[in-house]
Amino acid sequence: MDGDQYVLDTETVRAFVADVRTAVSSADSPPEACDAIRPRFAELLANESWLPDEYAAAAPESGMGGGIGQWLLFRAGDGSLSLFSLVVPPGAETPVHDHLAWGLVGLYRGTQDEEIFAAGEGRFEVAERRALVPGDFYALLPPANDIHRVRTTSSDTSVSIHLLTNDTGCVWRHAYDPATGEQRAFRSGYVNVDCT
Ligand SMILES: [Fe+2]
Repeated sequence: MDGDQYVLDTETVRAFVADVRTAVSSADSPPEACDAIRPRFAELLANESWLPDEYAAAAPESGMGGGIGQWLLFRAGDGSLSLFSLVVPPGAETPVHDHLAWGLVGLYRGTQDEEIFAAGEGRFEVAERRALVPGDFYALLPPANDIHRVRTTSSDTSVSIHLLTNDTGCVWRHAYDPATGEQRAFRSGYVNVDCT
């Protein structure tokens, strides 16, 4: 892919991406970069006006199943950064999956329960459960806490915002059988753009 792709081409998204790039290039490590981005990410989650309704809509035919929509908002031409919304209808849950890239993930609308899985040496189990409300966000720093599943607990669709340092919808990552930990290749895709 040539060049950056601003699917949602607005001043808010462009300014956010520019600030993220400045933070990443001046940080010495992913944790440091995440810390530097935190205030801007919190601002984005608190701003109720920047995400058009079409990117907060469920997607009946999605690669995630359950009507879950993964909408690309921005991605870098070199695959080093993506910003997308993940829309999960009431009662629906994602497969257990990983991300294979660091970044920030936060809840924008609705409420979710999240289960984080611990894997390795023959074990696969839920290590942590957390309930998320709008404005909650966390740094994802694989391999730590990279495997999870989210379920919407609100009566309205939940929307989370992901800023990750890969083209998450298009890279091959993994989905897991929650009972056995058995892994399969998984590519979620995006509802609104192709991966070619
Ligand atoms: Fe996820």
